Amino acid sequence: AVIVLWLSVCLLLWLLMGSRPQGFPPGPAPLPLIGNLLQLDPQNPLKTLSKLVQRYGPVFSLYIGTRPVVVLNGQQALREALVTKAVEFTGRPDHIMISHMTEGKGVILADVGPSWREHRRFALSTLRNFGLGKRSMEQRILEELTHVCALLEKSAGGSMDPQHLFHHAASNIICSIIFGSRFDYDDHYFQTLITMMEEINKLAIGPWAMLYDVAPVLRALPLPFRKVFRYYQRLREHMQQVITQHQHQSAAHTHEPRDMIDCYLQEMQKRAGDGSSFDDSHMESLLIDLFVAGTDTTSNTLRTACLYLMTHTHVQEQCHQEIDAMLGCRECVSFDDRHTMPYVQAVIHESQRVGNVVPLSVFHTATTHTQLHGYTIPKGTMVIPNLSSVLSEEGQWKFPHEFNPHNFLNEHGEFVKPDAFLPFSAGSRVCLGESLARMELFLILVTVLRRFQLVWPDDGGVPDYELIFGATQSPKPYRMGVRLRPQVGN
Ligand code: HEM
Repeated sequence: AVIVLWLSVCLLLWLLMGSRPQGFPPGPAPLPLIGNLLQLDPQNPLKTLSKLVQRYGPVFSLYIGTRPVVVLNGQQALREALVTKAVEFTGRPDHIMISHMTEGKGVILADVGPSWREHRRFALSTLRNFGLGKRSMEQRILEELTHVCALLEKSAGGSMDPQHLFHHAASNIICSIIFGSRFDYDDHYFQTLITMMEEINKLAIGPWAMLYDVAPVLRALPLPFRKVFRYYQRLREHMQQVITQHQHQSAAHTHEPRDMIDCYLQEMQKRAGDGSSFDDSHMESLLIDLFVAGTDTTSNTLRTACLYLMTHTHVQEQCHQEIDAMLGCRECVSFDDRHTMPYVQAVIHESQRVGNVVPLSVFHTATTHTQLHGYTIPKGTMVIPNLSSVLSEEGQWKFPHEFNPHNFLNEHGEFVKPDAFLPFSAGSRVCLGESLARMELFLILVTVLRRFQLVWPDDGGVPDYELIFGATQSPKPYRMGVRLRPQVGN
């Protein structure tokens, strides 16, 4: 009787899930309640997705729990959704836990609407024209680099784990832009902020978040998802404190803005009474978003670049030659130098391609009932842009499955960027920090390579290029040998 009852419940749940809507993209049959979750490789779901592309084509569907999602693969399908039909696919899913945490504010996870639009426009223009002009952004990065180089110098002749260094450097650059100040790398408070940010990143997309979303009765219980709310609140309190300090100094009213908070305070003043969404609480959410989005992404890319530079010594050697030839006896690099360094540019882009840092982008939703690739997509459907599938798509790259800077060089050795280079996604939600990230990657790698030689340590074992899967992917931890380059300063 128990078995019959159990089978009946399963049948009922299966019937309740219903079949895919008419004209919906095809995909594997889901199980009741959990959908296709068990069919995904837990270590690396990207592997399962590429198998499903072979079976169902570039646009297919899956069930995450009881929710149908559409997965987009390959450049053509992604561009159709994100660029050609940008308006129809600009939405963000209403994950309940994340919406409860952020109150729908900020940029990254905010659904399309006036607040997202206003804050995105504000952040973009502030990052582009930053206060005293673009130069100032460059100065902030170069200033942080003096600390990076000082730490690397301490390790010269030995080896170090670059994870902490690049993570803190990327984080400090964002701090300098948004708060106007930086932290020492071993500052206890800074460490705490970074740990909270990492915990939020992990928990907000993991199984506990799913449980929170599907089981409202559990939400008040002291389960691990409570930590996310606590940490988010503490990040908010930190932002509040810094904002209050800025308000007291009232620099925003009398001086040129020093950082993004000053710019925001000025914007609030300009817009007072016009019904816009600019207020303290939206500012806190925007600052947290930039802090969170701009750290792991950039630092994981830097770690990927260093891993390949150490293990592909001829590539590093060619970078050294180009950098020395182009900078001559100049001490400092500028972002404009990128136009004279096609090989270095190719190496950075190739590191982004193989580093595949945000493999499944941030999920989108259809804002209206629409068509895609010949299929019907109902309003509200969650859409996963599989950026990973484009970055190694056969037919788009000369060497899709190996690290080779020639993916970005033509037969004359000139830098060319193929259309399939989409690590920042594309369209109306394209990464808001793209220009900052590109500037950071270039200035940091050129400065480091100008002064140091990076070597794979004798006791480093066999290099492992497999990435650790996550919302942001990273290389496995490794140690980096550091040698001062003898010719610098001669
Ligand atoms: C969104 C990649 C660095 C801020 C995104 C998205 C991707 C991405 C794939 C999702 C786009 C979409 O939904 O279609 C990267 C990579 C980076 C990087 C690969 C570094 C190598 C940064 C930095 C910042 C930043 C430094 C901060 C200044 C954002 C924000 C969004 C975003 C705010 C949300 C945009 C929106 O929803 O309108 N990024 N990112 N990112 N990124 Fe980045």
